[in-house]
Amino acid sequence: MVIRDDLVDALQAARAVVVLTGAGVSAESGIPTFRDAREGLWAKYDPLELATPEAFDRDPETVARWYDWRREKCAAAKPNPAHRALAGLEKQLAARERGFTLLTQNVDRLHQAAGSENVVELHGTLWVWRCTRCGVEHEERDVPFREYPPRCACGGARRPGVVWFGELLPEQALQQAHDALEACDFFFSIGTSAVVEPAASFIHAARRRGAKTVEINRDPTPISNAVDWSMPGKAGEILPALCKRTFAI
Ligand code: APR
Repeated sequence: MVIRDDLVDALQAARAVVVLTGAGVSAESGIPTFRDAREGLWAKYDPLELATPEAFDRDPETVARWYDWRREKCAAAKPNPAHRALAGLEKQLAARERGFTLLTQNVDRLHQAAGSENVVELHGTLWVWRCTRCGVEHEERDVPFREYPPRCACGGARRPGVVWFGELLPEQALQQAHDALEACDFFFSIGTSAVVEPAASFIHAARRRGAKTVEINRDPTPISNAVDWSMPGKAGEILPALCKRTFAI
């Protein structure tokens, strides 16, 4: 693995870092990604049958059982070296009074479990469920659920607090993302196939304002030729090595 000196210099000089992460960052914790040809969730399950509001209206029990299965996997998972390296990077930058924002598409909260603080959950989380009748949100950590779908005190069915296909991102999260991108001078794209909007366009917003850009991803993506540094490989190997070279952590 080659870690270029100019990358280390640029990261050491960065004043405001934005990191976008996807399912590839949690892959080494045993959580399946979405679009891996063989092991990806969407290779085995139809997203239109499980990850849309229409699917939940049609069959809330099946949808709730599937998301509970994913909750059980996430409950058993531990943060990996990629998660820990990002938490360490945030602390190093904070110690130097530099900005750091972690924009994640992941719904597993492993970044927070690793100690990351300034985390924006672009696609919500598996750990908060929302009543489809009264809208009350409820943090649900016990796995598995006792009933499918879980019920609210008002009797309404609860749905997972994630962003489904055809739904808008949470307004506050989107605003936080735009504010961070407006101020950033260094942008990481890590473990994401960079095909799902609006997150897939964040790199272009960062580039427009002159930020340096890095991609760390196992496979090539549509942005691999657009970044300043493309680092093919596992996030759990590359990130700790880069942080060690840059901040001796
Ligand atoms: N290290 C780095 N990259 C990895 C690793 C790893 N250990 N393992 C897999 N990858 C890469 C794959 O090469 C792939 O490009 O991670 C990427 C994961 O891509 P997707 O499965 O498409 O996941 P993601 O980009 O997070 O999906 C975005 O789509 O289905 C929706 O809402 C869901 O948040 C999700 C969104």
